[in-house]
Amino acid sequence: MSRFIRIAPSLLAADFSRLGEEVRAIEAAGADWLHLDIMDGHFVPNISFGPAVLKALRPHTRLFFDVHLMIAPADPYLAAFAEAGAGLISLHPEAGPHLHRSLQTIRSLGVQAGVVLNPATPESAVEHVLDLTDLLLVMTVNPGFGGQSFLDSQLSKVERLRRMIERSGRDIALQIDGGVTPDTARRCVAAGADVLVAGTAVFGKPDYAAAIAALRGPEPGTLSA
Ligand code: DX5
Ligand code: ZN
Repeated sequence: MSRFIRIAPSLLAADFSRLGEEVRAIEAAGADWLHLDIMDGHFVPNISFGPAVLKALRPHTRLFFDVHLMIAPADPYLAAFAEAGAGLISLHPEAGPHLHRSLQTIRSLGVQAGVVLNPATPESAVEHVLDLTDLLLVMTVNPGFGGQSFLDSQLSKVERLRRMIERSGRDIALQIDGGVTPDTARRCVAAGADVLVAGTAVFGKPDYAAAIAALRGPEPGTLSA
């Protein structure tokens, strides 16, 4: 089986003093999506940026904005991220009491909806919301910081989610976030992932195009699994 693999560089690892330039450079380097990590210093122990930054960057790129919310509560801010140009908004089940309702709200804003599983969160957390889900994101580090080491323990969850998606017959992307390098990317794709988030492994390298190509693997665009 061959799947199209998307690379989603995380802006968290970019130079914050030159965000417009960084976004234009990453698009020119062949990124498929732009991953935007939103942190509130409460749900995760770090603070990043909010919808005003998305809005400011929107005119600088045609890249799909893949917004990863690490905020609680998330519901009061969904409309602001949609209006700022998000193409997809993902949130953690632990961020609020009603995941199903939050996903309905995201879809009603005309935006795709994703669910993020922390390392300790089981795949059963999404079993009954697949009909409202466009993307499942498996955290392969604890959320909050870039540059952490990949957690091998999450690969079996990726395999189980791939089977769950196939059984459902739905068109749901399976994304990995945290510690992605050319080596861990290959293992994630083999386990069933098709969207790879990478911060340090792209923005931390001198040649963004070479870094993205290295994550895609030997056959640009597709990898056999
Ligand atoms: C972590 C964020 C990640 C982070 C990944 O909470 O969700 O998107 O930027 O960074 P790397 O690729 O450096 O592990
Ligand atoms: Zn992220």
